[in-house]
Amino acid sequence: MSSGGEGTPALYPRDQVVHRRGMEHSHHDAHHHAPAAEPFPTDPAGLPEATAPTALEPGDGDTVALTIAPVAKRLDGATVRMLAYNGSVPGPALTVRQGSELTVDVTNEGDLETTVHWHGLRLDNSSDGVPGDTQAPIAVGGRHTYRLRFPDPGLYWYHPHLREDYTQELGLYGTILVRPADAGYWPPAHRDVVLTLDDLLVEDGRIAPFSPAETTHAAMGRFGNVYLTGGDPAPRLTADAGEVVRFWLVDTANTRTFDVRVPGARMKLVGGDSGRVEHDEFVDGVVVAPSERAVVDVLFPAPGEYALEHRTPVGTHRLATVTVGATPATPDLTAAFETLGGAPDLAAERAGLGPWLAAEPDEVLSFVAELSMGHGDHGGHHEHHGHDGPSATAGGIEWEDEMAEMNRASTSATVAWRIVDPATGEEPVWRFAVGQRVKIRLVNELESDHPMQHPFHLHGAGRFLVLARDGATEANLVWKDTVLVRTGETVDLLFDVTNPGRWMAHCHIAEHHESGMMFGFTVDEAATAAP
Ligand code: C2O
Ligand code: CU
Repeated sequence: MSSGGEGTPALYPRDQVVHRRGMEHSHHDAHHHAPAAEPFPTDPAGLPEATAPTALEPGDGDTVALTIAPVAKRLDGATVRMLAYNGSVPGPALTVRQGSELTVDVTNEGDLETTVHWHGLRLDNSSDGVPGDTQAPIAVGGRHTYRLRFPDPGLYWYHPHLREDYTQELGLYGTILVRPADAGYWPPAHRDVVLTLDDLLVEDGRIAPFSPAETTHAAMGRFGNVYLTGGDPAPRLTADAGEVVRFWLVDTANTRTFDVRVPGARMKLVGGDSGRVEHDEFVDGVVVAPSERAVVDVLFPAPGEYALEHRTPVGTHRLATVTVGATPATPDLTAAFETLGGAPDLAAERAGLGPWLAAEPDEVLSFVAELSMGHGDHGGHHEHHGHDGPSATAGGIEWEDEMAEMNRASTSATVAWRIVDPATGEEPVWRFAVGQRVKIRLVNELESDHPMQHPFHLHGAGRFLVLARDGATEANLVWKDTVLVRTGETVDLLFDVTNPGRWMAHCHIAEHHESGMMFGFTVDEAATAAP
């Protein structure tokens, strides 16, 4: 089997590559495991209490310091030990200008070696934060400097790229809002509210245990039972009557997909992963899968109390409460809110899409799971498929963990998640060049041992448009870095390759990523003549 790096000399010794689970099991396991007798610490006693995230607005060329360290986080009825960037969960909320550059000095005082990945940024490959490919892991007590640039407006975020099933779950994530160079890029809104959507699994007043040796919950990922919206179990916001609040949503959960609604208010979709949508659209709600972003303008029409809800076929959960006062919002943005605008560059892309829609894919990936649980029955999970009634798996998405015991017991040793090239049955070998456009077909195999949805993410080698889902042309384009591929679905992408280097592709369910659902690919500097 290819290790995925042919022709590209590894920058760091392979024995530091703790990232590549699944490819090299035995080798990997020998190195990766902390001593089995040493569980991760869970005691919050004596730790500083987690603070609210700081808003940072660094200018072009500035340096920001991020320190990873444990904190005590107060939840309803429990205080738990979490990990934080600069003492808060989420970490500092950065706002930067499109086209600016930033240096980030990271100090690791956390529980295990780490890196920081700057999700969605088309940055220089050397700062992508992939252990083994672009840097050696930052040891506990160590430091690393990243140089970031921000070519695209929109909401991005940062998180570790090593055992993120543990470290990201414990609170290591933060947001980066990139303001557009063009002030008229977004429609008018009164206010920006950036919200991370997350959940945490708490049992008997503690965060449910992790194994330092292996990733658990490998089958479906770790669903939580405490929701953290902007790091808060029950945040409260206020607004004026008629106010248009722009919510910037990012799903930072390990596995949970959110369906966000605000009953009684009007919601307009204006942006996605990387900036503006092709055309604004009034919606009832937005589905956001792990690492995806949605930008929605919400008009609160009248005084009263509104709920920001996560609604699934099996239940509704209140994420946040918005109390709207009697004071009218100024200026009056109602007329602007009723106007549906869009992105001219995406209208131009639409005009050129025909040949790409008709073309055969250049690359095909299929998503499969191989289970070796030691018995043939996996809890009757397959019974859910094809049902239209209320079910935790409705619409090709598993909204809840309905097989908690089986899921908890499944590890990266018993569940092998794979992304394979169906032509070879092996890990894909991709080599692209800057300036290329590539049509990629993603096939989420129903015949897999455990069919479920996968949010598929491509690192900053470029960005992509969704061309079609199950053959139906995508109605509203937006530049993306993650796409949710529902159970049994086939999704076609048009990948615009812009940045050279060694990049990752993976499922953004942390436990799937850790169980082998990833590969690396190479982008060469510029297109060369065919050999
Ligand atoms: Cu946000 Cu490689 O991931
Ligand atoms: Cu997955």
